[in-house]
Amino acid sequence: MLFMRSSPMVIADVLISGLLLMEMTIVGLGFRFGGADGLRMDYYLMTCPFAEQIVKTTVNSALQEDPTLAAGLIRMHFHDCFIEGCDGSVLINSTKDNTAERDSPANLSLRGYEIIDDAKEEIEQQCPGVVSCADIVAMAARDAVFWAGGPVYDIPKGRKDGRRSRIEDTINLPAPTLNASQLIDMFGKRGFTAQEMVALSGAHTLGVARCSSFKQRLNDADPSMDASFAKTLSRTCSGGDNAEQPLDPTRTTFDNAYYWALQAKAGVLFSDQSLFTGPRTSGVVNGYAMNQAMFFFDFQRAMIKMGNLDVKEGSKGEVRSNCHRVN
Ligand code: HEM
Ligand SMILES: *[C@@H]1O[C@H](CO)[C@@H](O)[C@H](O)[C@H]1NC(C)=O
Ligand SMILES: *[C@@H]1O[C@H](CO)[C@@H](O)[C@H](O)[C@H]1NC(C)=O
Repeated sequence: MLFMRSSPMVIADVLISGLLLMEMTIVGLGFRFGGADGLRMDYYLMTCPFAEQIVKTTVNSALQEDPTLAAGLIRMHFHDCFIEGCDGSVLINSTKDNTAERDSPANLSLRGYEIIDDAKEEIEQQCPGVVSCADIVAMAARDAVFWAGGPVYDIPKGRKDGRRSRIEDTINLPAPTLNASQLIDMFGKRGFTAQEMVALSGAHTLGVARCSSFKQRLNDADPSMDASFAKTLSRTCSGGDNAEQPLDPTRTTFDNAYYWALQAKAGVLFSDQSLFTGPRTSGVVNGYAMNQAMFFFDFQRAMIKMGNLDVKEGSKGEVRSNCHRVN
């Protein structure tokens, strides 16, 4: 097919695949790129110059109202990217023929959908059919990090929205019962180093977990958990499965207190605490606990990388007009 046509498009295609190959080789050699091949920092410069600003304004005013939603937005981007790539699949509603990701028990109380909807609505008014829901989720997460006191960073844009969202795919999300070596494996399959995985886990500097996510730790004495902290968790769980426990002592501030908590054996999730217990990750935890700037630097790099996971470009996806359903 490629060789039967001879339009300039074909030449461009060949050139692009050449570049692609080259990039893959270079990436293989360990170089880092700002974005997946077709993503660009200035992707919407000509087609929707205010998109970025609209997202930021929407996020800021929503977080002013409810600071706890910063956590929701960051987690939403993570779940989006880890299932089927960063393609907005996390936003799709179930239909009568299909149960979508968001109705999985693993949607685990995702929050912040309204913020994405508000931003999308305003953007559609200015430039209909241009800005993908996946990009809005990615930008919103980035803005939430900064709003909560974390690092400022730019992300490449140009993700297209996917057409698949299935409950069974959520099996690819890490469970809070995994230990450090299992987390290393799981993130390793997505191309992350152990250090990047520890940095990304630092997102747990924001937000809460519900009792159902950690109560299994309370059954038998867990030597990796501080005894008085175990009592705190038990007290939380006396409020039922949905009772919330902050993941670190400063739940709306993006800082490195999460790593201090792990050092103090006061990590809420088993998976979190295992980063401090695990021989291959404890050094990284100690490093970030000591040096917040290093955590911030690694975190933003790892977030940019996560935002490039299996991105759909060109005709591999679409720009949904309503984030909740495929066009
Ligand atoms: C390392 C593997 C990870 C595991 C096992 C994990 C698991 C969990 C669990 C069980 C919760 C609590 C859910 C609930 O009880 O409602 C949670 C919350 C959260 N996770 Fe993770 N997570 C991981 C990595 C990440 C990453 C990479 C990010 C983002 C970059 C992230 C962001 C968040 C945020 C912000 C919250 C709080 C949500 C809120 O307060 O609404 N997590 N995570
Ligand atoms: C998450 O899934 C449950 C079913 O497991 C569903 O009742 C709930 O509405 C979903 N939450 C969101 C925000 O979609
Ligand atoms: C992690 O869990 C796996 C599976 O249960 C187990 O085989 C492995 O030994 C555990 N690793 C550590 C360091 O505890």
